[in-house]
Parts: sequence; C-alpha cells; structure tokens
Amino acid sequence: MKILCDRLDLPRAECDLLVVNQFEGVRSYGGGTGAVDKALDGFIQKLAREEKFKGEFGEALVFRTYGKIPANKVMLLGLGDRKEFGLEKVRQLGGITVKKARDLGAKQVVTILHGAGIGRLNAADCARALSEGLMLSNYRFLKYKKSEAEKLGKKDIEEIIIAEIDNSKMRLIRKGIELGIHEAHGVMYARDLVNEPGFQLLPKDLAEKAREIARGKANIKLKLFDRPTLEKMGAGGLLGVAMGSAHEPYLIHLKYTPKTGRPKKKIVLVGKGLTFDSGGLNLKPEQGISEMKIDMAGAASVLGIFSVINELGLKVELHGIIGACENMPSGSALRPGDVLTSMSGKTIEIGNTDAEGRVTMADTLFYATKQKPDFIIDLATLTGAVIVALGPQITGLLGNNQKLIDQLIKNSKITGEKLWQLPLEQDYRKLLDGKVGELNNVGGGRAGGAITAALFLKEFVENIPWAHLDIAATSYAEKEMNSYTPVGGTGVGVRLLLHWLNSV
Ligand code: BES
Ligand code: ZN
Ligand code: ZN
Repeated sequence: MKILCDRLDLPRAECDLLVVNQFEGVRSYGGGTGAVDKALDGFIQKLAREEKFKGEFGEALVFRTYGKIPANKVMLLGLGDRKEFGLEKVRQLGGITVKKARDLGAKQVVTILHGAGIGRLNAADCARALSEGLMLSNYRFLKYKKSEAEKLGKKDIEEIIIAEIDNSKMRLIRKGIELGIHEAHGVMYARDLVNEPGFQLLPKDLAEKAREIARGKANIKLKLFDRPTLEKMGAGGLLGVAMGSAHEPYLIHLKYTPKTGRPKKKIVLVGKGLTFDSGGLNLKPEQGISEMKIDMAGAASVLGIFSVINELGLKVELHGIIGACENMPSGSALRPGDVLTSMSGKTIEIGNTDAEGRVTMADTLFYATKQKPDFIIDLATLTGAVIVALGPQITGLLGNNQKLIDQLIKNSKITGEKLWQLPLEQDYRKLLDGKVGELNNVGGGRAGGAITAALFLKEFVENIPWAHLDIAATSYAEKEMNSYTPVGGTGVGVRLLLHWLNSV
C-alpha cells in the first residue's frame, strides 16, 4: 500500500473510492467536500438528509457516482463533534478508511486530508497522523497462516492519495507522510516481535534482532553480553531469573549516535525482555500463563524504535538496553527465598519468582546508569496490578522526575497512547524490606502492586531522571483496541517515545 500526496482537484480525481467528510450536525459543506457536492449537483447534501446521516464520529455513507464524476464511489465520513476533534481522531479515520476500502474492494483511494481544512490543524501533523492510521490498521500477523494471508492479500489497497490543491502545502504534507510511515514501521516491527510465539523468539533471537538492526550501520553499535560475561559483571538478577531456563540469557546494548551534529542529549531506553514468563516455581495458573510470550513487549518497543532510528535521524545519543531471558520452573530454577546479588551490589530476596521482571531490571537499570545519561525511560510489562488499576487501554506512568513525566504526558496526548501517572509513594517502600536480603522482590500483597514494583525499580536508577511505563495492559490488545490497533501486540510506546525524543 502506497501513500502519496498529489496536487488533485477532488471532483476530478479518478479512483475507486473518494473520501470526503462532515462534522456532526454541519450540513453546509465547504472545502473539498463542498467541491465534490457541487460537482454532484448537491447530491451529498440531499442523500445525507434522506439517510439521516448525522456526521457522528466514524459514521460512513457510501454511494456510487454513475459517471457523474470520475470517482467510482464516494464515502462521506463523519468527523464527530468539532470540539472533540484532534490528531487522534485523524489517525482513527485513517483506520476506518482502510477497513471500508478493503471491504469495498477499492484499490485506488483518494482522500481529503481530514483536519487540515475545517479542523484547522497543522497539515504536516494531520498527514503524519493519517498515514499512521492508514498503515497501522493494515497490519495483521499472518506469518503462520499463509492461506489467510493470501486471501487478505487480494484485498490489498494499492494506493492512497491525499489530495491537496494548495501547492505551498505539498512539501509539508509529504514530510508528514514520510514521518508517519517510518513511525508505523517501528510500531509494526514491535508488534511482530510481541506476536511471535515464545519458542520462536528465544532470548538469543532477541539478541539476533539487535544484531540485524546494527548490521552495516556505522552509527549504531551493539554490545552483547553472554552468560560468562554477565557472571564477570555480577549480573546476579538477570542470571538468577534465567536459572530455570534451558536457554541462555543475554544483555543487549544498542547505541545510536546521530550521523551529523553533536547529540543534544544522552538518553537510555530500557526494555523488559522476558521472552516467556511462566512465573517460575511460583507457576502462573492457566489463565495467566497463556499470553506470557508478550513479556518482552518492552524490549520489542525499544527494538522497534531502533529499527527506524536512522530513517528518522534523531538528534540525541540513544542507548537501548534489554535483559533478554526466560522465566521457567525446573530443577535448576530460582527458589522462593533465594537471595541474589544484583549488579549494583544490593541483595534481593526472592519473595515470589513470578515478580521476575523487576529482578532482571535491577541489573539493566543499574547498567543504564553507568552510561551517565540525562534520562532513563523504561518500558515493562511489569504488573498485573496495573491492569486492575487502569484497565486495558491506559499505560501506568511513574518516575522520580515530574518534568520528564509531564513531557511524556504531553506527547501522549499527540500520539493517542493513553498514560496515567501513579504516585511513587515513599511510605510503601518499607514493604519491600527483605528478611534475609536487603530488598524483597515483592511486598504489600496485591495492594498497590504497580507502585511497589516501581519503587523496587527506583532502587536501581540512582538519582538520574527516570520514568517507568508499565505496559502490562497496553502492550497486547485482547480485543481490537481502535480502528488502527488490531488484536495482538500493539507496539505501545514506540510512537510516544519517538515523538518525545524529537522534542528534547
Ligand atoms: N509479566 C508479569 C506481569 C503481567 C501480567 C504482564 C499480565 C502482562 C499481563 C509479571 O512478571 C508478573 O508476573 N507480575 C506479578 C507480580 C506479583 C507476583 C507481585 C503480578 O503482577 O501478578
Ligand atoms: Zn512474572
Ligand atoms: Zn513478567
């Protein structure tokens, strides 16, 4: 599917499907929709009235033109309430357009740039959001379903053209499209990794992905630490969690330097990389264990960002750090009650082997501080508690620096990835005191679980400004989340962090 911007007069556009729009309750059409309506002798207005089309968000009215204009069919899309309109709506309209076009078997689609005219939004931002929605809604993970892939492939849209008559806006729109496409590729890279089964994506495979990303790129360097090296480094947390697994753990460290210019900031992204979390000897029950291949979603998003970083030309020095391992029960597995010595020297008593993410991250976060960055941001499918607290669509956000947190919230409003800050309540810290070790990896039972988990992480970030994204709920969509986020891995955080990285 190609996305282009062309200098096109909508009523003269030749295509299978022409997409125009209408705000809720507004029947006097201006701009592109007005021009098409005029060319159709007011037919859209008439039909909308007769069909009681209100223009509610996502409402669609499709009709044939019978040669009156070159477009074979026209789709009038509802933009909803003008006051609620924004970039996230534009993104979702992209998703709705792709679905409708596929259902209708349309190969050539021409669309108005929603939001840029009557919505009064910046044209480049609209083009970026629309392209993201178009690309991301077209994603399916069909690697292991070849015949379905073939069937769906027949419905593929060939070309979507964003029509613009104002020559002066074309360059901006094209830039927006390019950005949106690159970002969507980063998201889809992450989705693919999350959707991959646990056996097909072992810790060594995550390491291999990092190797592929760095290959042939002089400005992306990779350091891979294997078991013997990790032993020398004293990575007792990561090695401890990996004890029960038949597969070797790795610490992955990617470093990106801009091709030109001095980097503005040094930033580390840390991703939880449990390729499968069985719970270990505190084995998860049937319900909890089935989706645990997704426990590397944080790592997937970090790799997704690195997979498109050169295309986006970020101006910061960016490090990506992943502790890749598997949490399994076996004769050699970590026991409840065991004490591990983490890379920082702090000892960790294992209250529960299923709270393994924070134990691996004790080492990866500590290793992150050694890069002396300006900021550390981690992404982790860390707690079931955050799902209880915020539900399926909201990422939990905690950290030790309010300015950084506010910046992330601001960017999330643009990218539509919902965040909610939870308090890093110091009074709960004592719940993590160990009986034998310095820190217990659990404390306080289920109450406030997302907070106690973050307090545990905080012990390993020194005083570096740090934010933690608990993506346990949002990294995987059990049901379609919105028009551009189908069932499966979501790639959450990729667009958010790319936006933020562009703004620091
Ligand atoms: N990987 C899980 C958290 C999780 C749960 C991610 C559901 C995605 C969906 C994590 O390692 C875990 O098991 N956490 C425990 C901690 C508890 C033992 C304190 C949890 O949340 O139940
Ligand atoms: Zn676990
Ligand atoms: Zn886990």
